[in-house]
Amino acid sequence: MRLIAIINQKGGSGKTTTTVNLAAALAEQGRRVLVLDLDPQASASSWLGVKEGGRGLSDVLTNRLPLAELVQSTSADGVDIIPSSSWLIGAEKALAGEVGAEAILRQRLGALKGAWRYILIDCPPTLGFLTVNALAAARELLVPVESHVMALGGLAHILETLELVKERLNSEITLAGIVACRVDLRTRHAQEVVEQLRGRFGPLVYNTLIWENVRLAECPSFGQPITRYDSACNGAEDYRRLATEVIRQEPVSKP
Ligand SMILES: Nc1ncnc2c1ncn2[C@@H]1O[C@H](COP(=O)(O)OP(=O)(O)OP(=O)(O)O)[C@@H](O)[C@H]1O
Ligand SMILES: [Mg+2]
Repeated sequence: MRLIAIINQKGGSGKTTTTVNLAAALAEQGRRVLVLDLDPQASASSWLGVKEGGRGLSDVLTNRLPLAELVQSTSADGVDIIPSSSWLIGAEKALAGEVGAEAILRQRLGALKGAWRYILIDCPPTLGFLTVNALAAARELLVPVESHVMALGGLAHILETLELVKERLNSEITLAGIVACRVDLRTRHAQEVVEQLRGRFGPLVYNTLIWENVRLAECPSFGQPITRYDSACNGAEDYRRLATEVIRQEPVSKP
């Protein structure tokens, strides 16, 4: 099982769009996927046609409610979800001072049994308590960046945080890759950003570019992933290509 946190502390970088549509595209290619919506804004939950889960996920962190009780199926075939909880906003305060609070999610996920090949965690736009819990739990990171110069500075900060997490919390975590989102190659500016990204981070950047595509921006309102909302559009094809690259990174199982 691959446990991947989708993170970027910058708001609107494409985390939720990538989580939902990569999940649906992986499922199309035969991988069962669980999305864990760790953002109190609950955007991934509503996008996948599921209501925000009341105290649910917050109780998992603060009490002893097992994660397994929160799993629901979604509007995307082969994709299940643990919906977010607006109560998560209070979780940090409730857990402040508790020993090892940053490792709670790791512990809860460790006890979760299921047939999923992938767990994708949609993180909130901060490097706070919830994201640190995701970093402590995950085996891999996937970082969507908006193709804009301002976005590149934030990337260095994420990579520094990753090194600290490796040293202090989770020595096994690795960077699966960086994916350029909302690329509009009609503008010179976006082209330069993609070139800079490749120049600086080389093979860490996925070959797939997620182009600016109005259908991707529309489909959350219809509660469906892009592969279902408009299966033939460029946005759906981009996320299928990304899924193929992610699948190619799967460790080869030894006979
Ligand atoms: N490839 C794309 N083409 C067009 N619009 C896009 C694309 N990717 C994302 N968007 C739009 O950009 C906005 C931000 O995307 P998204 O919600 O995925 O970012 P986020 O990183 O999850 O944001 P937040 O930090 O608030 O959680 C949304 O309105 C989304 O519809
Ligand atoms: Mg989001």
